[in-house]
Amino acid sequence: MLSKIYTIKENLYVNSLYIDKLGLSFNQFIVVSKDKNITIIETGFRKNFNELCKNMTFIGLLPENIENIIVPHFEADEMGAVPEILKVSNKKVNIYAHPICTFGLNDIFNTKAKPVKDNEIISIFEGCSLKFIHTKHVHQWDSLVVYWVEQKILFSSDLFIQGGEFTGINTNNCISEIVDSIKKDDYLPSHTHLVNALNKINENEIEIILPMHGSGLSDNIDFYIDSLKNLNFE
Ligand SMILES: [Fe+2]
Ligand SMILES: [Fe+2]
Repeated sequence: MLSKIYTIKENLYVNSLYIDKLGLSFNQFIVVSKDKNITIIETGFRKNFNELCKNMTFIGLLPENIENIIVPHFEADEMGAVPEILKVSNKKVNIYAHPICTFGLNDIFNTKAKPVKDNEIISIFEGCSLKFIHTKHVHQWDSLVVYWVEQKILFSSDLFIQGGEFTGINTNNCISEIVDSIKKDDYLPSHTHLVNALNKINENEIEIILPMHGSGLSDNIDFYIDSLKNLNFE
């Protein structure tokens, strides 16, 4: 297993671990404020945290500056490294998650994760307002996605995912890869809930989608949303 770190923008990085056996990448998103405080969306697996730290340090990002953790749902790849981050950080760390997820995090890790309401916007730093959109049963009942209001970026967790390595932000049409992943892994339990989530997401102007598996997406955003709304689940 090998992870690599990529710069997306001046203050946004992706650390991506590719697991050959699964044919799947696992992405963590790192947002950095002017004063170098770090917000991490998806923690990655606990056992890969040292590698994440090495990659961050290699490009001058200090893991001890992690100040905010965002957990899109209660699953190992999304929240496994929470205790390691709490150990390594010098900050008073805020953990944001769906209310059901915070209940699990607080019980298992003895944390004080903060529940976020549906469509709640939290200002992380100047120029970074994050909107938390609950996406029930996509693919867990405590799922949410995160929208960076100023940058028009959607961190879509397990929506719009594709197999294969992270290759940057694709402008070509990736719908067949997205649909293949839904059909192959069968990770979405309900089309009704998927459509509800897509309608809520569609209320926001999105320029880039960054899923936690596979590559980023730009262009064709309305097309992706419409295609998944019309997807035949049978
Ligand atoms: Fe998941
Ligand atoms: Fe995932």
